[in-house]
This record gives sequence, C-alpha cells and structure tokens, in this order.
Amino acid sequence: MKKPKIFVALDTTNIKKISHIINELKRTKINFGYKFGLEFLNSLNGRKFVAKTKNQITFGDYKLADIPNTCASAIKSVKDLKFNYITIHISAGYNAIKAAKKVAGSTKLVGVTILTSLNDKSLKEIGFNKSVKKIVYTQAKLAAKAKLDAIVCSPQEINIVKKVFKKEIITPGIRLTGHSSDDQKRVMTPKQAFQNGATTLVMGRSLIKGNLKKNIQKLIKELK
Ligand code: C5P
Repeated sequence: MKKPKIFVALDTTNIKKISHIINELKRTKINFGYKFGLEFLNSLNGRKFVAKTKNQITFGDYKLADIPNTCASAIKSVKDLKFNYITIHISAGYNAIKAAKKVAGSTKLVGVTILTSLNDKSLKEIGFNKSVKKIVYTQAKLAAKAKLDAIVCSPQEINIVKKVFKKEIITPGIRLTGHSSDDQKRVMTPKQAFQNGATTLVMGRSLIKGNLKKNIQKLIKELK
C-alpha cells in the first residue's frame, strides 16, 4: 500500500459523514490516510467502525500521556484494530515512549511534540519557560533516542526536527489559503508544509468543514 501523503482528521461522531468523506476522497488522485481521534474513538460506534475499516491506512490519534505501564497496556488493548499509526505525547517521558515502542509491533509509534494549538505564551501559562522551538528540538532528540517511527510537529518546526530526527515528519496545523486557523496557533498552507519538508500532513476542518467537494478542489489546485 502506498504511503499516505495526507491524513484526514475524521473529527466527528457521525459515521455516515465519515463514510461519505472517505468515498469522496477515494475518487481523488491524492493519497489519503484516515486519522481517528479522541472524539470518534470514544464514541459508541467509533471502535466498531475502525475494526471494520479495511485496506486503508489508519491512524489512531490516542495521544497517550501516562505512566509507562499504562501507555504500553493501552497500546496492547487496541492491537485488534491493527492501526498503522498510533500517537503518544513525548512529554510522557523517555521511559513511557520506550515502553510503548516495545509493544507497538508493526504499528508505527508517532511522538507528538508541542500541540499546534500552543505558542510560547501558552507554554509560559503552564510553567514551561523555554520556547516552542527549543522544546520541540529536545523532544525530537528524545524521539530519535527511543527509536520512534514518526514525529508530529507544526510545519514551522520541520527544519529543527530534521536536524535530529530522520524518519517521518507529520504536520497538523494545516489550512487552505484564506481559511480560518480556528484554535490552531502554528499553521501553514499544505503547499508550504510540503515545501518545508513534511512527509505527511494532517488536515481536519480546513477539508471536512463546509463544502467538502469545494475544499477538495481547492486542495488539489493549491498543491499543483
Ligand atoms: O481541524 P484541524 O486540521 O485543526 O485538526 C487537526 C487535527 O490534528 C486534530 O484532529 C488534532 O487533534 C490533531 N493534532 C493537532 N496538533 C497536534 C497533534 C494532533 O492538531 N500537535
């Protein structure tokens, strides 16, 4: 199966809507994978839907952030879903990401750096006095040491991450030109993110909110 270039964040609990989105995206020439996040995975039918999803690249965005034993156990508990990718916060610590990696098997373990909804000011509010860039750099080094398979960062830190992390770089915080950044603070357009060296993008609202067909057309045009 070809590596996906864009993971679509299926952030809804509406199964019909998700099936519609997947069907529309299959008709394009872009290589899409599907990211299931906390909203869908915690919904009543979410897990069942993922269990039935075949022949697609799937991404379980669990964003684990717990003690090593709990992170590892959580990964084991979703083995049946055969995710291609699962996320863990690097801030859970070296022992947690290492323990998770040990049990991940063929699922790629993705280390999440500082959320794209945060900036330097928001970090200060939670007691972190270093800049986003400095922390992301440190976390990327830790991810490399723990042999994680991919990193999630904003497209604005790709250059920094690349210095120390040589595998996949997945970037959320993507907006089509002129679209609202919503709650995201560190954003870029899809084209800019690829130009900066992103391996894969994550796109949610900019694609699935509003008119899906129009957004897909806009995406195709912008990527040319
Ligand atoms: O709608 P939007 O494109 O902003 O969605 C981005 C998606 O990527 C969401 O599902 C969010 O949970 C996820 N994400 C993120 N920032 C990170 C990691 C994941 O926005 N650092």
